[in-house]
Amino acid sequence: MCGIVGYCGPRRVVPVLLEGLKRLEYRGYDSAGIVYLEEGRLVKYRSEGKLSRLEAIIDEAIIAPSHIGLGHTRWATHGAPTIENAHPHSDCTGELVVIHNGIVENYHQLREELRGLGHRFVSETDTEVLAHLIEEYLDGDLEEAVKRAVARVEGSYALGVLWAGMPDTLIAVRNQSPLVLGVSAGEGTFMASDIPALLPYTRQVVYLADMEMAVLSAEGYRVISLATGLLQEKEVQQIDWNAAMAEKAGFKHFMLKEIFEQPQAITNTVSGRINLQTGMVNLPEITAAIGDPAAIERILLVACGTSWHAALVAKYWLESFAGIPVEVDIASEFRYRHLLIDRRVLTIAISQSGETADTLAGIRIAREKGAKIVTICNVVGSTMTREADATLYTHAGPEIGVASTKAFIAQLTALFLLTLSLGQQRQTITSETSLTLGRELIGIAAVIEEELPRMQEDIEVLVEKYADSRDFLFVGRGRNFPIALEGALKLKEISYIHAEGYASGELKHGPIALIDKDMPVLALVPQDEVYQKSISNVEEIKARQGRIILFGTAGDRQLAAITDDVVYLPRIHPVLCPILYTVPAQLLAYGIATRRGCDVDQPRNLAKSVTVE
Ligand code: AGP
Repeated sequence: MCGIVGYCGPRRVVPVLLEGLKRLEYRGYDSAGIVYLEEGRLVKYRSEGKLSRLEAIIDEAIIAPSHIGLGHTRWATHGAPTIENAHPHSDCTGELVVIHNGIVENYHQLREELRGLGHRFVSETDTEVLAHLIEEYLDGDLEEAVKRAVARVEGSYALGVLWAGMPDTLIAVRNQSPLVLGVSAGEGTFMASDIPALLPYTRQVVYLADMEMAVLSAEGYRVISLATGLLQEKEVQQIDWNAAMAEKAGFKHFMLKEIFEQPQAITNTVSGRINLQTGMVNLPEITAAIGDPAAIERILLVACGTSWHAALVAKYWLESFAGIPVEVDIASEFRYRHLLIDRRVLTIAISQSGETADTLAGIRIAREKGAKIVTICNVVGSTMTREADATLYTHAGPEIGVASTKAFIAQLTALFLLTLSLGQQRQTITSETSLTLGRELIGIAAVIEEELPRMQEDIEVLVEKYADSRDFLFVGRGRNFPIALEGALKLKEISYIHAEGYASGELKHGPIALIDKDMPVLALVPQDEVYQKSISNVEEIKARQGRIILFGTAGDRQLAAITDDVVYLPRIHPVLCPILYTVPAQLLAYGIATRRGCDVDQPRNLAKSVTVE
């Protein structure tokens, strides 16, 4: 996600834009830019990297006598974080600029059409298409041109538009990406991705709804429905957050905010990659790099930490649906063992940051041995993505909390998309299965969105009971065994409680000696193909007075007979339970850690990206 800001009013615009971008930098910090109108011409400043580098080049412009402009801080989704790809983007004339947060899914097709009409593109971004599309429709009426342009766009956008031909007007459009207006008599009119950018000037805000366009001037604003063309009466709301809270959108910690952003992370990662009618998956960047999928003899998944857990889940999926043998390696082990790999082995590195030293070393060794390298990564232009043959990007947006949550869920989403893609290309899954699983994947975002508040309440009860535990066991079977590992990692890395994840069937081979009345054991027991085995394992724990917590399927009456501490989750296709069952485990770790007064967003001894061996 990116941060966008705009202003028109009595204040000098450059300081307003820079202050707003500072307060939105948590949304993305690959590159930044501003544009303002001065004496009838657009003045643009852009820079790579953090906002401080943009501020360093602006110098005397800070006092520019301009009162209207736009600003953008980027979280790259299409195109590396270079100056050419930094927003604002211009049309051919240079008299119209746009800033954008979201994904234009059909930008390839639109770009080719516009090129055919003579438009010249200078960036790799999807956003630049919007500037040329508006230009194509512009014949003096900016509102009409923007309406016609967005009608051609598939995808998500929070859009800001400024045209030298209408020097007193900004246009804002919202569809599936947040956009809020700041309104205050005598202060002018503001637009921003999020509240923090508005707080220094006003606490009176107007939230735009999807497919609404706002026309801003120094005197005020009007909001039009793009569906009906009618003027919309909008409620002005009073914000009572302080700036720090506002950066977290009212959440106490970034980690909790990012847990609640997971439905959007799934939707953004799936967006534009799956046909809603057939379930067919389209990953052109990966297909081109992999070549003939029938020639893949083996897949090697390499990662660390939470990303390694995503790899473990993917092994079950890829072997079940793509029919390819899969090996999973911890990167720090992979790089030092005797590797038997060559071109017939597809090596996939999974990394949220794209900078993890062990994983990076792993793919370099694999490449030396002739393997094809694909990365699954959340940071455009990171080192791993530049060294791979192809990258399947997750679109989770910047993950600030050190404990990975939404990036992990987005990794699982991307890995499932890859599984479907390979299965479809190798014809190891039927069209019916594609349709079923594709729809389940698309639908799981809404399931999580709807269930999150209730999960949080259920987990709060468990936090009360278990926050003082000294040890914790997490157990799961099959594709949910890695989620037991992930639940244990989340708990130990933010609450500092010793926690271990085990395959349920493994307990009887030693760890069961740990079970007594003081040992909490959280078991993942969805009603799937190994359910009865999982329940037998739970009975073994109960027989030894273990304190049992169950995550299971709504309506499963057997669970309450085993323990009082049950979190019921919606019945979904068992194959996708790893995605759904991760969420309450994250909430449990978060709840216990906050109850214990731990620094949830920056736990002791940890770093967001481990760039050393
Ligand atoms: C996740 O909660 C941890 N912070 C850590 O295990 C992390 O997953 C690991 O360091 C790998 O990071 P990466 O995904 O950026 O490569």
